[in-house]
Amino acid sequence: MQGAVVGVGVTDEPIALSPITETDLPQLDALVAGPEQLGPFQWFGWRNPGRFRRIWAENGLLSEEQSALAVRAEGEFAGFVSWRRVNAGPNAWYWNIGIQLRMELCGRGIGTEAQRLLVAYLFAHTTAMRLEADTEVTNRAEQRALEKVGFLREGVRRGAVFRDGEWRDNVVYSLLRTDPRP
Ligand SMILES: CC(C)(COP(=O)(O)OP(=O)(O)OC[C@H]1O[C@@H](n2cnc3c(N)ncnc32)[C@H](O)[C@@H]1OP(=O)(O)O)[C@@H](O)C(=O)NCCC(=O)NCCS
Repeated sequence: MQGAVVGVGVTDEPIALSPITETDLPQLDALVAGPEQLGPFQWFGWRNPGRFRRIWAENGLLSEEQSALAVRAEGEFAGFVSWRRVNAGPNAWYWNIGIQLRMELCGRGIGTEAQRLLVAYLFAHTTAMRLEADTEVTNRAEQRALEKVGFLREGVRRGAVFRDGEWRDNVVYSLLRTDPRP
């Protein structure tokens, strides 16, 4: 696959990240279509269903502020990874990363490998010093995946996320360019 970053997951499925193409867009829309597809932590109510398509037409979902790449497992669209710029003062910024896989593909090592590839990609192609990820305290799969990639748990932001009628605590993780990686 041209331009892909290739790695191998624990299941021996080749996992790759590459730009989201026009033919991915229906699968991307389906991935975020509703509560069943988004799973227990990512459903925040209905949103503009055409938002990805509109942004893709503008910039291919790759920009200075916010970007996404497709996660491919055995060449199939498995979900996406994303990163957005967080300004940290007048002369500094870092990336906050995210991930969403197709629910039926969760728990097979793809999320860990995809985030490992994203880390390598961002440190290779951007000058970022810090990568950050945050997730709800009850999302053990994402916390464990981040830890396996080398992210360190920084702490808990209390009442930071409003989802499904409740304010929830969020765990913050980071990985510096200079940190050791497993
Ligand atoms: C979170 C997510 C990216 C993790 O990726 P994944 O491919 O499912 O996870 P992996 O198979 O790589 O597993 C990573 C670790 O989590 C553990 N794990 C997996 N699913 C788990 C679950 N439901 N509960 C607890 N631990 C779990 C695995 O056992 C593994 O740890 P181990 O090697 O010590 O056994 C993926 O599940 C996903 O996209 N979920 C929906 C969206 C989401 O929650 N995104 C993050 C929001 S911030």
